[in-house]
Amino acid sequence: MSVQGAELLPGFRCHKQSEAIEGVLPIGRNSPQRVAHELYAEKLSGTAFTAPRAQVLRTWLYRIRPSVGLGQFSPLDHARLRSAPDAEGVMTPNQLRWGPFDPAANEGDFVDGLVTLATTGSALGQSGIAVHRYTATRSMTDRFFYNADGELLVVPQTGTLTAHTECGVLEVPVGHILLIPRGMKFRVAIETASCGFICENYGAAFQLPERGPIGTDGLANDRDFESPVAAFEDREGDFELVAKFGGKLFSAPIGHSPLDVVAWHGNDVPYRYDLERFNTMGSISYDHPDPSIFTVLTSPSDTPGTANCDFVIFPPRWLVMEDTFRPPWYHRNVMSEFMGLLYGEYDAKAASGFGPGGSSLHNCMSGHGPDTKSYRTGTTTALAPQKLDHTMAFMFESRTILVPTEFAMRAPELHPDYADCWQDLPRGLES
Ligand SMILES: [Fe+2]
Repeated sequence: MSVQGAELLPGFRCHKQSEAIEGVLPIGRNSPQRVAHELYAEKLSGTAFTAPRAQVLRTWLYRIRPSVGLGQFSPLDHARLRSAPDAEGVMTPNQLRWGPFDPAANEGDFVDGLVTLATTGSALGQSGIAVHRYTATRSMTDRFFYNADGELLVVPQTGTLTAHTECGVLEVPVGHILLIPRGMKFRVAIETASCGFICENYGAAFQLPERGPIGTDGLANDRDFESPVAAFEDREGDFELVAKFGGKLFSAPIGHSPLDVVAWHGNDVPYRYDLERFNTMGSISYDHPDPSIFTVLTSPSDTPGTANCDFVIFPPRWLVMEDTFRPPWYHRNVMSEFMGLLYGEYDAKAASGFGPGGSSLHNCMSGHGPDTKSYRTGTTTALAPQKLDHTMAFMFESRTILVPTEFAMRAPELHPDYADCWQDLPRGLES
């Protein structure tokens, strides 16, 4: 049953299959009259039945018990979890920044420690996202979770997560991401106090961006995404299943582990991805390219090229551009940008308190860019080839305005003096 060190299954959104007991997967059919070992066949549909073939997400699960027969769900209070639309959200065009959150601050597990920083769109309308922090000091053992509102993109910042899912087990260290499909049941185990960021994606499932003239390889390569092999829990007890449904949490008693899938096949499965494997593209002549060149995954909207959410990273890379201001340029964007720093230093905020675990929000049309020190360095440094190393920042970028939660606006981690990082910029038109 244990898969520590076991081989993982490579590929993204392609068809995969795995069985923890040989001979369970039916051959030549999905739902035979009787499944081997009297298991139940159950289908998980991540897209509508009639979605275009290239977009269809579905997995067949062969399990000890089907996903029925648990107790009734009752509402479960959660002080800091919010969903879009958030009636208590605080609208502001100001640039916002938060310091790191203490991973030991939450005396609880991954679900207890969810804190929403911003939301946009509508969980019921299946558009937009929510940006959460998680902190955990305890593993989920007898508690399981699924999210009917969206797919979860988990970005650890401190501590390794082990995700026990219906499809198997994935170990997710810092520098990796974890993608859990909408509706998939899982629990999170930790070894030390852990924290990180989550994009809850209400919209279309994340997919790899088109590469255009880049060609057939580069950016995030399909084969570097890894799915678990089948591993099932056969245990009974007084357990709890927590569901996020319609913006609220619900809890139901369950007498067995719902991670009891013995075999599966399909493409609606969890993934992990090592961000250091990103094949970074950039300018080798002049100018700083649009950061879309760093897109790992994109959740498309109904408007071509205009994402419900892009997941973008700023990985280690060489800067070689000539006669170019190499830091990110000053910018106003119709897309709203939530950014976080996992480790290292971000090249636009060299001197102004954007450390690992920090995050910022630059909303629709709110100006942003390098702080004064980064500006001065960027405009005066001799332009020899330069390696930005040991750094990893990321961005959740949405087509719609991200509304900070009341909690985020009152958090002591919020930097009230963030905008001061631009106050000493010299005026132009100096003689
Ligand atoms: Fe920007």
